Amino acid sequence: MTAEAAGEWRGWRAAAESALYGPGGFYRRPEGPAGHFRTSVHASPLFAGAVARLLCRVDEALGRPASLDLVDMAAGRGELITGVLAALPAEVAARTRAYAVEIADRPHTLDHRIEWLREPPPRITGLLFANEWLDNVPVEVAEVDSGGVPRLVLVRRDGVERLGEPVAGAEAEWLARWWPLGAVDGAQGGEALEGPEGIEGLRAEIGLPRDEAWASVVAAVDRGLAVAVDYAHTARQRPPFGTLTGFREGRETAPVPDGSCDITAHVALDACAAACALPGTRLLSQRDALRALGITGERPPLELASTRPAEYVRALATAGEAAELTATGGLGDFGWLVQSVGIPDVLAK
Ligand SMILES: C[S@@+](CC[C@H](N)C(=O)[O-])C[C@H]1O[C@@H](n2cnc3c(N)ncnc32)[C@H](O)[C@@H]1O
Repeated sequence: MTAEAAGEWRGWRAAAESALYGPGGFYRRPEGPAGHFRTSVHASPLFAGAVARLLCRVDEALGRPASLDLVDMAAGRGELITGVLAALPAEVAARTRAYAVEIADRPHTLDHRIEWLREPPPRITGLLFANEWLDNVPVEVAEVDSGGVPRLVLVRRDGVERLGEPVAGAEAEWLARWWPLGAVDGAQGGEALEGPEGIEGLRAEIGLPRDEAWASVVAAVDRGLAVAVDYAHTARQRPPFGTLTGFREGRETAPVPDGSCDITAHVALDACAAACALPGTRLLSQRDALRALGITGERPPLELASTRPAEYVRALATAGEAAELTATGGLGDFGWLVQSVGIPDVLAK
């Protein structure tokens, strides 16, 4: 690609915004996210079953209201909300108002009970669930230059990068509070480094737009629970060179903001949590969250194989799916940010 065809230099936030959501953007394509990667939703129907049980707990905590909201934020093609509706007891499903919130168009075959919206409903009593949304909210990337100064990373349409202006204002404040570039802590295996030569090249993704996006949807919850599930890190374990990456047709690729691939970066979920400042906040792994919702991954007893072989084979397959959803080094390491609004902690049971 010539420099001219590669276009102007832009910060990663603007570049990813148009590559993912602009006309012809990656998430506007007909195959949808499932055409390129598997989330927990596609890995197993057990995931939708667990979210259905979570909704039932929220329902009980709310005193079984006449109308119970279920909001699937960043719904993809509606796979999760369809699975949750199917897994709910009929009596709860009958009181549930289901909303899928998505930038992409409504799929033609979607269950008529699901409302398809561009923004969340303004007042929610129930459960707002966002699986793998925040990692796709575009952010700026900062990199430390040879003088030790964190600068915005600029990128062209062909993925070539250069450094721009020093990070300033609210973005600099966010970095200083949540992802200081320059101190490498023990969790990253290093010592505090001093001098520009020790920190040159360190990178961070500036999560401010994600904090704001999350706070704005949580603000719509009058009573109930808001849950964000994503690849995540916290202040104790920020990756020293960031996590910006691309996905195309099931494979990780270099992030190139031309609409040909997903562009994603792990989420500073502790910063998102603080943006809402709710007393009922928990940050836990998907492994622990799913265990609290009854997914253990235990294998069926071996004697079942001889007494009821068909049942044994089904139970074994289910155990395999549960193991994938809770795997160390895989989906089980995802973070669940769980924020209760006016109800007790429903995961504590
Ligand atoms: C990685 S996919 C996850 C889809 C689904 N939640 C799942 O887990 O399979 C991210 C989705 O977020 C949607 N999205 C991103 N920003 C959004 C926004 N502000 N409002 C609604 N949907 C959004 C994208 O269009 C895309 O379908």
